[in-house]
Amino acid sequence: MADLNLREIHDFMVSIAKSAADRITSAKPTTSSSGSKKNSVDLVTETDQAVEKLISTSLRDKYPDFSFMGEETYKPGDTLTAAPTFVCDPIDGTTNFVHRYPYVSISLGLAVDRKPVVGVVYNPFTQTLYSAIKGQGAYLNETTKLPLTPPTPLETLNSCLVAVEWGSDRSGNDFTVKSETFKNLAATKENGGGMVHGLRSFGSAALNLCGVASGGLDVYWEAGCWAWDVCAGWVILQEAGGIMVDANPGNWEPRVDERRYMAVRGGEGQKEIVEEFWGLVHGNFEVGI
Ligand code: IPD
Repeated sequence: MADLNLREIHDFMVSIAKSAADRITSAKPTTSSSGSKKNSVDLVTETDQAVEKLISTSLRDKYPDFSFMGEETYKPGDTLTAAPTFVCDPIDGTTNFVHRYPYVSISLGLAVDRKPVVGVVYNPFTQTLYSAIKGQGAYLNETTKLPLTPPTPLETLNSCLVAVEWGSDRSGNDFTVKSETFKNLAATKENGGGMVHGLRSFGSAALNLCGVASGGLDVYWEAGCWAWDVCAGWVILQEAGGIMVDANPGNWEPRVDERRYMAVRGGEGQKEIVEEFWGLVHGNFEVGI
């Protein structure tokens, strides 16, 4: 990695994300929907595929020796290797996109040795850019350092705003783990719950991570999403002082492609919040195992 110019790569990734934005904002997703992947809530549109093609073509032209992993071209069995790899979700928040709810991002990360080192998350509707380079800080619109305000200590979960996502699995063990844990998080302390200030489901893993990096969200917990949903946001989170652990209790160092994640914002008390949260997780997710 020593000889990679991460700043130059970052700048190119930002320019690509911005140049792909029009394709998303001008699309008519209800008419371009091309079917579903796993089930009727796992959506993909022609725009997802077109934007990934645009991004991968530009990246391959400029960095022909780098690998590429993208949501729309992923095949079961593809793995993230140690080679420099662009990890891309062309539209993170496809359900929002289809419904014209403008909480959508292009999520473009670079992983080296399977670790995220550059992250670019761009919402083309609001023209909001989050980005980071490992060791060089995380920024909003390249100028405002993240987090947006100095982090206060994390006290207990009952002072936290927590992002969670239902994802597309709607039955089975992992659906039960999620729905029971959501109840545990919301329930009163007297009933053994976390009594969190609120649960939020915005529909974009990458933007959720940026929300935690910015400091507005305290925790984001999800299982079922993929490396392309989290790679870019991961380095933005870490550069803003946040940490990423497993959504299942016990693993403090998940892989980028582990498919189970919990992000905690910067501030004293991260370890205690993780342990309190893990104590409320109902069972264990099977995804990624
Ligand atoms: C999805 C979003 C959503 C998360 C899902 C992801 P997509 O990505 O990030 O927030 O709950 O797990 O698959 O399908 O919109 O690219």
